Amino acid sequence: MKILSFLLFLFLLAACQQKENSETSQASTYEAFRPQFHFTPKAGWMNDPNGMVYYEGEYHLFYQHYPDSTVWGPMHWGHAVSKDMIRWEHLPIALYPDSLGMIFSGSAVVDWKNTSGFGTTETPPLVAIYTYHDPVGDKAGRNDFQTQGIAYSVDKGRTWKKYDQNPVLKNPGIRDFRDPKVSWNEVSNQWVMTLAVKDHIEFYSSPDLKKWNKLSEFGNSIGAHGGVWECPDLFPLTDSEGNTRWVLFVSINPGGPQGGSATQYFVGDFDGKNFISQDTLTRWIDYGADNYAGVTWSDIPTSDGRRLFIGWMSNWQYANVVPTQAWRSATTLPREVVLNKKADAYELKFIPVKEISDLQGAGVSYTGSATLASPLSLIEFEVDDSQEFTLTLSNAENEKVVIAVRQGVLTFDRTTSGVIDFNSDFPAVHQVNVADVEMKTIKLYVDLASLELFINDGERVLTEIVFPNRPYNQVQLDMKNPTMRISPLSSIIQ
Ligand code: FRU
Repeated sequence: MKILSFLLFLFLLAACQQKENSETSQASTYEAFRPQFHFTPKAGWMNDPNGMVYYEGEYHLFYQHYPDSTVWGPMHWGHAVSKDMIRWEHLPIALYPDSLGMIFSGSAVVDWKNTSGFGTTETPPLVAIYTYHDPVGDKAGRNDFQTQGIAYSVDKGRTWKKYDQNPVLKNPGIRDFRDPKVSWNEVSNQWVMTLAVKDHIEFYSSPDLKKWNKLSEFGNSIGAHGGVWECPDLFPLTDSEGNTRWVLFVSINPGGPQGGSATQYFVGDFDGKNFISQDTLTRWIDYGADNYAGVTWSDIPTSDGRRLFIGWMSNWQYANVVPTQAWRSATTLPREVVLNKKADAYELKFIPVKEISDLQGAGVSYTGSATLASPLSLIEFEVDDSQEFTLTLSNAENEKVVIAVRQGVLTFDRTTSGVIDFNSDFPAVHQVNVADVEMKTIKLYVDLASLELFINDGERVLTEIVFPNRPYNQVQLDMKNPTMRISPLSSIIQ
């Protein structure tokens, strides 16, 4: 008997050792907190996605970038390209600051008709439209230091030339006058620029991307106004029944539903001149703390037909101090924006793009609890009639995130999620009202430093960053019938 107990003891000891080894190696395989299936800059600072345009088989992603530091500074446009929005190739910096200022956020288009004259109709130019932020004027206390400039490329975005008569839109004396999102308007046969101006949106039109005329204003007395309006987007969207509506995104900072920065949206009509919202409700593209300044890709081929979105996965409350080393910030997963008629109003759904399934391994079913086979995982389950559940992710350090729904309120608790002491706003219990949503399915994408929760295929979304000292490897689902399916995801980092 004694020998048996001793052998059992040895066996358990060996098993513990093995578990520890595998956990340690799992943790050390990855650069600390480097997201594994999200875009991150190789090094340096990143904020907003910029200039998102699709051309000749490539999704371009430019981004607000300061290469010399991991905190915000003189802005450049960093650049990467992808064939699937998932795996990215880093390219050299596209736009550097110049005598007119830093290069703030903006957009890019394919000028198919060569209206700008920068290319030819055979080789249409890519044209970037961005904000110049002149730090000298800012320091001097002037109000007109933000203007709009353009640059173009005739080699698939590899090199860029700035227009020699910049700026193309001067500042009328308003401090916040930025983030132009440009698209071709089929009705007016002109370019339309959607610009964030302090606490509202202004629309401008142009025949050639060089001369701009003001069309109208929207938003002075509608929507959330807890902070300055930034990074807008405007596009038409058609629902499954063939109804077309126009969508306007407006990021605001601060004033988001979880504090700090967030993006609200309006659905309505745009006649080529004025935008009119369907109602006065404030809706958010994401109810988590970490999805900001997101916009959609321009020039997705009609044969594809999707409206594709990516956001910056951080929040200005703490973006500059998150505990990463060589770089700061990641983008969200790319999402398809879908127009959805709900009762009398239109709402949006944000669905993870189908390309993500390329990273997904075979799913395994579990009941109640599971040890994650990979720290990169997709957890899926169906919500039962009680419409209540608790999902807990944890690691051996007793760090955890608890996502629970009780009486129509979803709580996302990251107060003990790992490293939390870099900013006092970070460790919080976030609340979202879900009483109006009949919850059917939940999908949770788990990366090393983020969680993205999709209710009913994106009817309600929560994106949150977290910094566990070891990847979460335990999952516990409390619900009447706690069956879940867990699929491993692979890393995109070579
Ligand atoms: C949004 C924003 C933009 C601006 C850019 C500067 O996060 O403040 O309004 O263009 O960042 O980096």
